[in-house]
Amino acid sequence: MRAIDPKKLTERDNYKLLIGSIIPRPIAFITSMSKEGVVNAAPFSFFNIVSSNPPMISVSIQRKQGEMKDTARNIKENRQFVVHIVDTDNVEKVNGTAANLAPDESEVEKVGLTLIDSTTIRVPGIKEAKIRMECELETTLELGGVGENKGCDLIIGKVTKYYIEESIYEDGRIDPDGLAAVSRLAGNDYAKIGKQFTIERPL
Ligand SMILES: Cc1cc2nc3c(=O)[nH]c(=O)nc-3n(C[C@H](O)[C@H](O)[C@H](O)COP(=O)(O)O)c2cc1C
Repeated sequence: MRAIDPKKLTERDNYKLLIGSIIPRPIAFITSMSKEGVVNAAPFSFFNIVSSNPPMISVSIQRKQGEMKDTARNIKENRQFVVHIVDTDNVEKVNGTAANLAPDESEVEKVGLTLIDSTTIRVPGIKEAKIRMECELETTLELGGVGENKGCDLIIGKVTKYYIEESIYEDGRIDPDGLAAVSRLAGNDYAKIGKQFTIERPL
């Protein structure tokens, strides 16, 4: 086994070890809105469930040269956002939204996705996603030495409404083949869900 001290690695090398080890990562495609009303959209793979009671999700947004990304700033300012599940049908367009645009430019129009009004929050979602979750901000945490050119904004949101395409929903369950969620690996790589298998949980 190779023993590696993270303190002796650069930020880039730590990043490479983390994103290569913690795979596959689910991807949240997040819409948020600036104070001026510009809708922003970007993918985030440092994403997971926090709790089901109440239903809460987390996403970690890295600082860029110590500055908050547009998504983090928007969510902190108006406390609302929409999370969409990335799938084989929308992944190319979603990937296109990770471009570095000015805060007053919208990634959504640029890649040809369509906005749809939300019902519990003001921030619209993306029509083409098979699953979207309207969220209200529960809390944010600034972690890892924010202000010193590093760190992140950990966002925790409470789901205020689910929208799920009828064809993949049955009796309170989601059909994983119909959803065809895509995950993030390292570098520019993505993965589809591979062969599924079942193991009974011990009593
Ligand atoms: C598939 C994918 C996953 C990503 N995951 C993250 C992430 O978890 N955290 C993060 O800070 N940036 C992540 N990024 C980069 C952001 O999407 C990118 O910085 C984007 O421009 C941020 O948009 P914004 O400035 O409009 O918020 C990811 C990019 C891609 C393509």
